[in-house]
Amino acid sequence: MRVSARSISAKAIMADGLALHDVSAGYGETVVLEGVSLGVAAGGTLAVLGRNGVGKTTLLATVLGHTTLHAGRIAFRGQPICRLRPFQRARLGIGYVPQEREIFPSLNVDENLSVAARAGTRWTRERVYELFPSLAVRRRNMGNQLSGGEQQMLAIGRALMGNPSLLLLDEPLEGLAPVIVDTLIAALHRLRQDEGLAIVLVEQHARLALEFAERAVVLDRGRVVYDGASRELLDDPNRLAALIGVG
Ligand SMILES: Nc1ncnc2c1ncn2[C@@H]1O[C@H](COP(=O)(O)OP(=O)(O)OP(=O)(O)O)[C@@H](O)[C@H]1O
Ligand SMILES: [Mg+2]
Repeated sequence: MRVSARSISAKAIMADGLALHDVSAGYGETVVLEGVSLGVAAGGTLAVLGRNGVGKTTLLATVLGHTTLHAGRIAFRGQPICRLRPFQRARLGIGYVPQEREIFPSLNVDENLSVAARAGTRWTRERVYELFPSLAVRRRNMGNQLSGGEQQMLAIGRALMGNPSLLLLDEPLEGLAPVIVDTLIAALHRLRQDEGLAIVLVEQHARLALEFAERAVVLDRGRVVYDGASRELLDDPNRLAALIGVG
């Protein structure tokens, strides 16, 4: 029997990564995502690009179980997760860094990490501080006394405390100074290389995201209009501009 490379990789994704098949989802009756299929292998990286309002956050929310699923299937680590509640999906290993960061303003950095701690995981506060030394210096500062970059580091650290094998990040680089962006990208590379984390990076900074992730999908009005190698888009700026509307 002849088995194509494509079907082998699809099976590999099904076995231990994340896979969406023909997913339509939205908020109540409203359908935002239509016929979305995509996959991220275990330890793989995926950039999710697209203009404002095309459904990027809704895509992450659908993986997390926060939207209404109208059709399609979602599998993670070889099992269907559509019927699982959000906390069960988190326990299976899906971590999330929300677009709004959602740091507790009246808790300090230590406490923000502690509330997300889970027993028996490899992540501790000290390991988060190893990843982000500048956060360690601020460990007694309240959430509302942090810079944007520190808040983002804390949001990532808090997601790690849940011991994910897949990390979903929603525009983590938005509004940050270039030096902070470099620090965050370096940390994501480390998580990928040293911890084997799979990473889905939703970004408006298309080039940064494409340079980080091996594969990319572009959404337009709730549909996938590109699914392939990031390199292809980096090498074809006209096509990239046509897809996401940047010069
Ligand atoms: N809670 C909600 N209830 C109803 N509609 C929503 C809700 N959240 C988002 N939408 C709608 O879903 C569509 C997609 O929004 P979404 O936030 O997923 O886009 P996005 O690509 O993340 O945009 P941005 O780049 O601005 O973050 C938009 O039309 C938006 O108005
Ligand atoms: Mg969004």
